[in-house]
Amino acid sequence: MYYTNPQIDRVHRIFDQNERSGYLRLDLNENPDPIPVDIVKDVLNNITPEFVSQYPETVQFQNRLAGYLNTSPENVCLTNGSSEAVRYVIEGFTSVKGRIVSVTPSYFMFQIYSEMYDRNIVQIKYNDDMTMDINNIIDALTDDTELLILLNPNNPVGNTYTTEEFERLLDEAERRKITVLVDEAYFYFYPVTFINYALEREHIFVTRTFSKLFAMAGCRLGYVAGWKEGVKIVQKLCTPHNVNGFALAFAQKLLDSPDVVDAMIAKFNEGRKYLISKLDRLGYDHLGQAGNFIFIKPKTDADLIVDRMKNEHKILVKSYNGIGIMGKCLRVSIGGKECMERFITALTALDK
Ligand SMILES: Cc1ncc(COP(=O)(O)O)c(C=O)c1O
Repeated sequence: MYYTNPQIDRVHRIFDQNERSGYLRLDLNENPDPIPVDIVKDVLNNITPEFVSQYPETVQFQNRLAGYLNTSPENVCLTNGSSEAVRYVIEGFTSVKGRIVSVTPSYFMFQIYSEMYDRNIVQIKYNDDMTMDINNIIDALTDDTELLILLNPNNPVGNTYTTEEFERLLDEAERRKITVLVDEAYFYFYPVTFINYALEREHIFVTRTFSKLFAMAGCRLGYVAGWKEGVKIVQKLCTPHNVNGFALAFAQKLLDSPDVVDAMIAKFNEGRKYLISKLDRLGYDHLGQAGNFIFIKPKTDADLIVDRMKNEHKILVKSYNGIGIMGKCLRVSIGGKECMERFITALTALDK
C-alpha cells in the first residue's frame, strides 16, 4: 500500500533557489568574510584518501568541544547544523499536539518543525518597536506547555534578554515543568551566553552553530548542550554518523586557533561600527541590537532594491514585511568594513 504522510504533505517549505556564486551574499546571515585561506590549506593538507573513505571519528572532537565549553562530553551532542539540533529537541521533548511557546518574527524552522510533527506552536508577537515584553511570554506559559523556545539574540529582530529577564523566564518554566530551548546561533557576534544554565540545571538546552561567526556554513556543524539525560535523548534521535568529517576537521582547527577567531570578531565589529555610522549619517532608520544582521528602512521600495542590488551590484540582501513600525525593510548580514563599503555604495546608488 502506498502511503504519504499527510502531515508532511501539508508542510509548506521554501528552499533557497538563488544561484549565489559570484555574489556578495548578505542574505542568509552567513559570515561574508571567510576563514583565512591558510587555515583551509592546512586542514586540506591533512586530508588523506582514508579520511574520505572512512566514517568520521567524532569522539576526539566531542572531547575537544566539551573542554572548550568547560563541560563533559556527555553534555554535548554534535549535529548536522544547529537546525538539526532544534528539530531533535522538538521531536524528543514535545508530544503530538503538544504546546510550544516561541516568539514571532523568529527563525522560521521552529514553525516548520512544529508543523511537521503536528505540534501546537503559540508565537508571541514583538511590540511594534520590536522590543519584547517578557510578561507576554510568561503569560503564555501554561501547565500544559511542553517547550519554550527563546533566541539569544533573535533572528531576524536582533533582540536579547537581560540576565534578570532570562532568569524570570527560566523560573516560570521550571515552576511549570517546561523544557527550555535557547537558540544561540549568533553567539560571538553577541557575546552574552546562557549556556551555563544549560550545563548546570536540567531541562534547558542551548543550541549553537559553526555556520555563523566561524564561517563554516558550507560544512554544516552545530551542537546542543544540556543536561546529560536530555542530551542522551537528542543523541538517540541522530542518524548514525550525522556529522561530516570535513566539518570536524575545520572546527577543530578553529577551536585550536583562538587568534583567528578573535580576528574574525574584530573584523565583524569594525564592519558593524562602520555600517551603523554610515547609516546614521545617511539618515536611515535601522534596527538590530545584536547578531550579524541589521534591518534597514529604505527610502524607496525594499523589493525593488533587493532586485536591483542583485542584478546591478551582485549583492544579495533580503526584504522583510511587517517589521512593526519599521514596515517593509531590508535585512542585511553584517560583514567586515570592505563588504559594508560595497553595500553602502550600492544602497546610496539605488535608494533614491
Ligand atoms: C536563529 C537561527 N538558528 C539556527 C539556524 C541554523 O543554522 P545552522 O543549521 O546552519 O546551524 C539559523 C540559520 O540561519 C538561525 O538564524
